[in-house]
Amino acid sequence: MVAHGGVLLERQDELRAIERQLAQARAGEGSALIVEGQAGIGKTTLLRAAIERAQTAGTSVLRARGGVLERHLEYGVVRQLLERPLVKAGAARRAELFAGPAAPAAAVLGLGELPVDAGPGHDPSAGILHGLHWLIANLADAGSLLIVIDDAHWADAASLRTAGYLARRLDGLPVALLLGTRDDEPGSQAALLTELLHASEPAYLRPAPLAEAAVAQVLRDAFAGQQPSAPLVAACTHASGGNPFFLTELATELAAAHATPDQLAPDLVERIGPLAVQRSLLLRLGRLGDDARRLARAVATLGGEGELRHAAAVAGLSPETASAAADTLVAAGILEDGRPLRMVHPLVRAVVAEDATPSDRATAHRRAFELLRADGATDEVVVPHALAAAATGDAELVALLRRVGERAFRTGTPDTAAVHLRRALEEPPGARERGDVLAALGVAEVRQGAFADGLGHLDQALALLDDAPARIAVHRDRAFAAFASAGMADARRVVGDALAEPGVAADEDAALQLEADLALLAWLSGGDHQLELRRHLGVAGETRAQRTMLALLAQAEHAAGAAPSVVVELAGRALGGGRLIAHDTSEALSWYMATYALLTCEAHQEARATIADALADGQRRGSAFARAGALGTRAVLALNEGRPRDAEADARTAALGAIPPIMVPVNASYVVLALVDQGELDAAEAELRAAGLEHGPGGPTVLRWIPWARARLHEAQGRADAVRADVVSLEEDERAGRPMRALAWRALLARALARGAAAGGAPASGGAAAGGAPASDDATAGGDADALAQEHLAWARVWGRPAALGVAQRAAALAAPAVERTQRAERLEEAVATLAGSSLRTEEARARLDLGVALLRGGRRRDGRDALEQALEVALACGARGTARSASAELQVAGAPPRRLAFDELTASERRVAEHAAAGRTNREIAEELFVTPKTVENHLTRVYAKLGVGSRRELAGAL
Ligand SMILES: Nc1ncnc2c1ncn2[C@@H]1O[C@H](COP(=O)(O)OP(=O)(O)O)[C@@H](O)[C@H]1O
Ligand SMILES: [Mg+2]
Repeated sequence: MVAHGGVLLERQDELRAIERQLAQARAGEGSALIVEGQAGIGKTTLLRAAIERAQTAGTSVLRARGGVLERHLEYGVVRQLLERPLVKAGAARRAELFAGPAAPAAAVLGLGELPVDAGPGHDPSAGILHGLHWLIANLADAGSLLIVIDDAHWADAASLRTAGYLARRLDGLPVALLLGTRDDEPGSQAALLTELLHASEPAYLRPAPLAEAAVAQVLRDAFAGQQPSAPLVAACTHASGGNPFFLTELATELAAAHATPDQLAPDLVERIGPLAVQRSLLLRLGRLGDDARRLARAVATLGGEGELRHAAAVAGLSPETASAAADTLVAAGILEDGRPLRMVHPLVRAVVAEDATPSDRATAHRRAFELLRADGATDEVVVPHALAAAATGDAELVALLRRVGERAFRTGTPDTAAVHLRRALEEPPGARERGDVLAALGVAEVRQGAFADGLGHLDQALALLDDAPARIAVHRDRAFAAFASAGMADARRVVGDALAEPGVAADEDAALQLEADLALLAWLSGGDHQLELRRHLGVAGETRAQRTMLALLAQAEHAAGAAPSVVVELAGRALGGGRLIAHDTSEALSWYMATYALLTCEAHQEARATIADALADGQRRGSAFARAGALGTRAVLALNEGRPRDAEADARTAALGAIPPIMVPVNASYVVLALVDQGELDAAEAELRAAGLEHGPGGPTVLRWIPWARARLHEAQGRADAVRADVVSLEEDERAGRPMRALAWRALLARALARGAAAGGAPASGGAAAGGAPASDDATAGGDADALAQEHLAWARVWGRPAALGVAQRAAALAAPAVERTQRAERLEEAVATLAGSSLRTEEARARLDLGVALLRGGRRRDGRDALEQALEVALACGARGTARSASAELQVAGAPPRRLAFDELTASERRVAEHAAAGRTNREIAEELFVTPKTVENHLTRVYAKLGVGSRRELAGAL
């Protein structure tokens, strides 16, 4: 190889950019940088320079390289990055590193148990990515880090997803992420990489081809300092395209055949060109003799790098012969000097590998597989050869691929699992094993979303399997695939067939699970499962299937109009005093269903307890997924208890964690509702628009939170027509027999219509209108409104829950027809009393406001002012600014002296951060808790300090 005095030619700008990135990382400002370009342009060389500079500056380096054979090793690159530092760390430090949210990362690093498969529809990868991100954050606690992934175009998809996930969260971390990737490699992962990193807006470096001055330098070095002529330099520049690799190869070739550059005719050079590099390399290899050539091929088979003894064995050479051949290859610039053997460049490996026929290659991989396995190499080292080896019906190879396939599957990379299992099938497995392999492959494909292929393999598996548990597992995914590809009718047929099998029917729990699966799918799609679930009302909740069924029944019975006590009992049995969380985790849909059933029934004690358990469990397992999901439900609890600021903070935090995709828009609706309750209508409107919730949607009833939030906003804005449109889907759900009774649309519409009619009849009196009270007694509310309110009130009386009843009473009072107006104050008094006995402070404040207005209109000034004073007090206490402002305005109209309303100056998120900080938590701990970067915490605190006029954490507690 030609050394250019160790100097990188024409890379000053790139090096400066890298140094800037490293300096920023040291200052706590992480970023991602991608070095992109064709093979040989000098990417690896730049990455090496970065590593040197990092080490000089005391930055620790994690490095890994994608390998051409290793694309199907799930998390292979991540393991390369982390294995060494983790081993070096020692047990105590390792325990520290995997503490808290980093815990799920242990599974992919071979240091923890694999997540259990929770069945179709669940994906463990979100938790793992989050864990890896925190593991790296924990590592970076000890000082700045440079993470280098070279040849990222060959990295496995899971590792690239990790890089993408990390890249979006570098803000505030002392971590520089540096990737080298080719943009000219067909069939590589380059496109996936670009896509995954796009969102983090990484910087790109694209090293340019070398210009003539640098080319002259390279030639001078090759010809031992002799000066090349200008035409020769021009010819070499042109022939190599300025690509340093081609240029170096060309210069070596020329220097080997010619003593001085003067002997060279430039037009000869022109004819060589980059394409000829391949030929000249092979010629060079041919000249080195048979042993060298065989050894070179063996190294190429091993992926371009390997132990001498392995390469020797694959080549069929004795150790001594191989060692001599290695020296020859080093001298010829094909292998790097040193051990293990390593080709100087992937392009050289590609040329040498291409020199062999496909069947030669398959045989060589088979030999490498057997040899490495006999040598006790890890699965990871052996797998690439197993995948590329000629098929021979080897049971051990099948066992290996099933094992790594299972690993890939359980860590959330079913696509990789499918690759392994497909190869295992080709081997082929023995007759008895075939059914199992087909089943595993089918399941992996279904989870990957390849439903047609998956169904095909699952059907083949069923024809072979006679073991009932195995058949049941296949049936579960068949039903899921049938549902996903063809819909509920097909899924129902699949489950029906399965339940007709004697083996399945005999296994009660499995049969129950199949039915529960189907009912869950129906629930998720808003479709009808047409199963008779009620015969399971008596199950105890001892198995996962039973708990799932009970959670479903809690929802179904609620929809069918059962009393709250019945629903609460079912949900309680599903939760099993903590059993559901302990065995199925709060990530299971059954937990959400049971907890929502409790919330709907105003069983707040029970809901609070299970939410606390879920949070603790999420904390313990380091599951961001579980914690975020629990925070979302806690937001609903806060809304129900009239704590809109807490609701806003929880829902906003949940949105930053990993919640199930279906809950993302629902969660955004909670934010909107919390803002409406606070009277922040512009912010609510902006939130609604930012989350894209202006329309729809259909689908599962849980999504009806979206139109509900919209309707509540429109009511507060006084847009009765919009409200009428918003509640249509809620009405339809009710007609279809799956109402969400917590969303009291009749009461809401009645209020909106009554107020609309009032506003139409006479000019509104400013303040009160904003609180939702009718502005004038003179106007007639539509009879429509009264009917709706009465219908709802009748239901609420039977339902018998205080908040629901109070809401209904208030709506009925507001929508009462003109003849009954005189009794409005009494009716509102009743509503106030009911609500005061409920937890719904926000509605209580609104009812007191309405009452105050009604009393004033009726000439009872003193009582009216008292009611308004109380409305103001309750509104201020629960953070209902809109109601407070209205109450204050009405008080002024009634002659009370104006007063300053002291609202919290902090936003919900700022307050959350401030409270944690005041409690003595570090920025890192707060960041962990709230799913943000330490930088964001710092920014929040800076604003908090400014708003509260404090200078330190110590003063903070006092100021709050
Ligand atoms: N700026 C440069 N000046 C001189 N030689 C270079 C330069 N960049 C790369 N080279 C040489 O070119 C060859 C290929 O570079 P490498 O970094 O491996 O390319 P890539 O990683 O882009 O395929 C190496 O032998 C390297 O020494
Ligand atoms: Mg490279």
